[in-house]
Parts: sequence; structure tokens; C-alpha cells
Amino acid sequence: MTERLTIARVGHRGDGIADTPDGPVFVPYTLAGETVEVEPFPGHPDRRHLLRVEQASAQRVAPVCPHFGVCGGCQTQHWDFVKYRDWKRGLVVEALHQSGLDAPVGELIDAHGDGRRRAVFHARRSAHDVLEVGFAAYRAHHIISIDRCPVLAPAMTGAIPAAWALAEALGSDKPLDIQVTATDGGLDVDVRGSGALKARQVAALARLAETHRLARITRHGELIVQHAAPTVRMGKSSVVLPPGAFLQATQDGEAVLARLVAQHVGNAKVVADLFCGVGPFALRLAERARVVAADADAAAVAALRQAAKTPGLKPIEADARDLFRRPFAPDELKSCAAVVFDPPRQGAEAQARQLAASKVPLVIAVSCNAATFARDARALCDGGYRLTSVMPVDQFRYSAHVEIVARFER
Ligand SMILES: C[S@@+](CC[C@H](N)C(=O)[O-])C[C@H]1O[C@@H](n2cnc3c(N)ncnc32)[C@H](O)[C@@H]1O
Repeated sequence: MTERLTIARVGHRGDGIADTPDGPVFVPYTLAGETVEVEPFPGHPDRRHLLRVEQASAQRVAPVCPHFGVCGGCQTQHWDFVKYRDWKRGLVVEALHQSGLDAPVGELIDAHGDGRRRAVFHARRSAHDVLEVGFAAYRAHHIISIDRCPVLAPAMTGAIPAAWALAEALGSDKPLDIQVTATDGGLDVDVRGSGALKARQVAALARLAETHRLARITRHGELIVQHAAPTVRMGKSSVVLPPGAFLQATQDGEAVLARLVAQHVGNAKVVADLFCGVGPFALRLAERARVVAADADAAAVAALRQAAKTPGLKPIEADARDLFRRPFAPDELKSCAAVVFDPPRQGAEAQARQLAASKVPLVIAVSCNAATFARDARALCDGGYRLTSVMPVDQFRYSAHVEIVARFER
């Protein structure tokens, strides 16, 4: 059964929203003002599948990827770039407004650069025993096979053929997640979901690493084969990436976030970098300041400790620590002139509450989720901080994700 809807606006996840007597209805890949023909979206009474755009918005543009509209990886390739940027900045403005915070929000900084340097491909055999390798469809579990992805950086060239070859070589019936990261040593691949590998599968992967010139293949972090160290340059240091470790999605994104953080930190002599990962901020800040760093990922912390030995850096004291359960207490932050925190999407509720009770004069929050950022910002402001700068950063072009760098002072 099809129906016709008029789209009123684009929501915070990038879907067009039609207001109907039964409430809002979400239609992906549509724009405000458009009249569209849709059909039901199984399992989601408030969603529809787009069948046809009957009356297109003047803001509609041709997507850059032939898979757009089927592959669930991108939401907004059909939208005029200027309007898309306004919407993305608006996501941050709206989240702050909803938390009752009034703060200056800067212009969106484009940090797509030359594209994404990491991707997780999914692989599975279909019911008809056909191998599928690609990304998940929009809000569904089935895989859309891809042969290209214009969002990826040139350094990811070869990642898609390698993912296909790897899924073929493993010959697994189980669904696989194949994470590929572009490093200075070449493509670094971590496979998940295969279960323990048989000797012939290990041999096949070793051959494949050679033919596809991969730096390293790991399975759930366990080394299968390595031809080159998977290193990434961060400031003056070179970090050996642990398998599957967090890395900002684009090189430009990391550089922009680190530059903003360093500008805010200024001449602070002692800085805490909480949720430090492998240390893109800590390693740059240590060119001028002593750094106390922490992250729950012990392998990332070990990689940072190693990179911290780079000559010329001030000391970095890095520890593995769960900051949800054991946030830094005000007393532990007494010596810090500035604290930087960059949590995962859930935000840093417990740490923000501790910071709110501290006397640290300067706090810099980096976030990849406007809603949890606004919640944590509220806690800091309720504790007496002033939110003096908010910069939205766009490293996930065509998606509804936006990064934020914010400054809090007391
Ligand atoms: C958005 S990443 C930022 C990492 C780093 N600042 C960067 O830019 O690469 C979030 C980090 O939070 C860490 N993390 C997740 N849960 C955590 C927890 N409960 N306690 C401490 N760190 C955690 C992850 O390991 C990851 O390194």
C-alpha cells in the first residue's frame, strides 16, 4: 500500500519528517517541502520507505555515490551542501537550546578532508549462498554490497577489494565485521565474527595480506600476519595502532580537533586528557605541557605510553582507567590548569559531575554527540562554569554525526 506525504522538515537524524494526524512520520532521503510517494517500513510504524519524489525541493542535488539511498552509510548526499551545513550546525544549537544553555556556536568547520580513513565492512552469505560485502542498509540488518565508496580517503584505496577477498578466503557462514584503517604502514585489518581460524584460513589470510599489500591482519585483536607496522603520525610522534583501536574518522578531523584543543589549552603547564585514546591530543599537548592521560582501553594507553617516549616531549603519565566508574575526583585534578575530555557517544556524565565540583579553571569538552554533550555541559554550568565557546566540526560528511569542541571557564 503506497501513500503520498509532504515533508515538513529534516530531523536530527537526517530523515525528512511529515506531520500526519497520527504523529510525525520519518522518510529517509527526503527534504522539506517535497511531496513523496512512500510505502510502509516493516517493523517501524512511524517510518516509510521512499518510492518516488513527486515534487522535488530546489535544495535536492545529485548524490555522489551510486549506492546512495540503498546503502545505510550516508543520509544526506541528496542535499545542497550549504543547506546541509546549516542543518548540521543547527543540531548543536538545538541541543544546547533544549538544555537551556545559551552559548555562542561558531560556524561549522569542514573536516572531511580527503575522506574517511577507517571503515567497518560487513560480510555475510545470503540465503542463496551469495557473498555480500558492504554496509548495512538503512535501519536494517541486511547488507548492501558495494564496489566503491566515495566517502573514503585515497589512502583507503584497496580496502573494499581486500574486504571482499578476505570474506571469500575465510569462507565463513558467520557474519563478519571487517574493520579497515589506513595507516602510514598500509591498510590495517581487524576481522571479527569468524570464530577461531583453521590453519588453512590463516594461510589464506597470510597470502591475501601479501597480494593486497596489507600492513597487518588481526582477528579480534590477535595477530595473524604483519608486513609493516600500522603506525599513525600524531604531532611529533608515531603511534603503533592497537588492532581496532579508536581513531578519529578523518585525518583532517583529528587535526582540527587537536588544533582547537591546543588553542584553548594555551600555555597551561599541566593538562589532563581524559578519554585520551591513543593520544592524538596528549601527544600534541605534551610539546608544551605535562599531561595526565586516562582511557579505559588498556591497549590504547600502552600505545600512547610508547609514543610518549618521543624525544622532546614533556612527560605524559597515562593510565588505563574506567572513567564512568572511576572518574577523576576534584582532588586528583588539583594540579591541572586545564582538563580536556573526549568521551564516547554516551558522554561523560560521571566525570562531568566531578569536574563541576572541581576548581579547574579551564575545561575543554570534545564530543561526538550533541545530546550527551548538552547534558554534560549543563552539569558543568550548574557547577559554576561558563560555556564561552562552542565549535561544531564536520568530519562525518553526509551523516547526522557532528563533533563539538567547547570551552568552559571558571
Ligand atoms: C571519542 S574516543 C576519543 C579518543 C581520543 N581522544 C581520540 O581523539 O582519538 C573515546 C574514547 O573513550 C574511551 N572510553 C570508552 N569508555 C570509556 C570509559 N568507561 N572510561 C574511560 N574511557 C572510555 C574509548 O576507549 C575511546 O578511546
